[in-house]
Amino acid sequence: MKKLLALVLVCALALTMVACGGSAASTPASTPAAESTSTAAPEAPADKALKVGVCIYKFDDNFMTLYRQELESYLKGLGCDVTVVDGKNDQAEQTNQVNTFIADGVDVLVVNLVQSSAATTVIEAAKAADIPVVFINREPTAEDLATYDKCCYVGADARQSGTFQGEIIAATENKGDFNGNGVVDYVMIIGDPENVDAQYRTEFSIKALTDAGLKVNELFAQRGDWDQAKGQELANTALTQFGDKIDVIFCNNDGMALGAYQAIVSNGRTVGKDIYLVGVDALEECQQMVKDGTMTGTVLNDHIGQSHQAGDCVMLAAKGDKLEKNYTVDYVKVVA
Ligand code: GAL
Repeated sequence: MKKLLALVLVCALALTMVACGGSAASTPASTPAAESTSTAAPEAPADKALKVGVCIYKFDDNFMTLYRQELESYLKGLGCDVTVVDGKNDQAEQTNQVNTFIADGVDVLVVNLVQSSAATTVIEAAKAADIPVVFINREPTAEDLATYDKCCYVGADARQSGTFQGEIIAATENKGDFNGNGVVDYVMIIGDPENVDAQYRTEFSIKALTDAGLKVNELFAQRGDWDQAKGQELANTALTQFGDKIDVIFCNNDGMALGAYQAIVSNGRTVGKDIYLVGVDALEECQQMVKDGTMTGTVLNDHIGQSHQAGDCVMLAAKGDKLEKNYTVDYVKVVA
């Protein structure tokens, strides 16, 4: 809380120092000295809003939609001039957008990479133009981050979210074993294997089960690209193929879990009675489903905390303050 307050103060200070926004609200009404001199002075430089270019990997993503909307309104609230663009899940397109923002002279870039490996190129371009970069959601490697002192990453530790998913299942009455064969037979619906969020959630959800002393058996694991329709299709394939053998469907995110839920229903299965279903993000509908018992649990991926942290990093970077390399926001377990 103290840290948050301090950050708010830093931002307020940054607002006045870099004159970000120049909105009426950020300029105290009582500046008589400045006003009286400005009448005589030839031309005082006009207050300029801080220009922030935000690149999102694609707009059509449940979680990143909430994130980008919150980020945009937070930055605007700080008085920034914000432009948010859709990378359409195409790295070449996003690289062009980054270059356009640089050519337009943005003060700070916020980048949700399409491919984490493209961080090298983005950093090189931004560094050449001396523009700070705040990476969000898709983590560049530590080596990439180390190549530029004006860049950082704001995200969450996906190992924690995976662990929470596994713990949710381990805490159920039958410890994730409906068919009583002494093994948790599971389906894993993966986000995007290039992405650490997907890798860690896949690995750590199962590690939490084995750490709890449970035996596990992977029946099916395929990528669903964080997408609801793909989640439904994959869960349907798995349910058709493995039927009652499946105890649990793990989804790397709630979008895919929403799809998996449709497949569970259409295959005549019932969450909590003969199958478990867990996701990550805690989308509003999923929180409701957890309350209703139609989802076993989810994990809050705090888009508010993360977007505000990213906004605060933008302000710090604009002020020329030293950035940490990593800013991490905690996940929270959501169960009924
Ligand atoms: C994850 C989130 C997914 C998806 C992904 C995009 O953190 O859980 O739903 O938005 O980021 O990179």
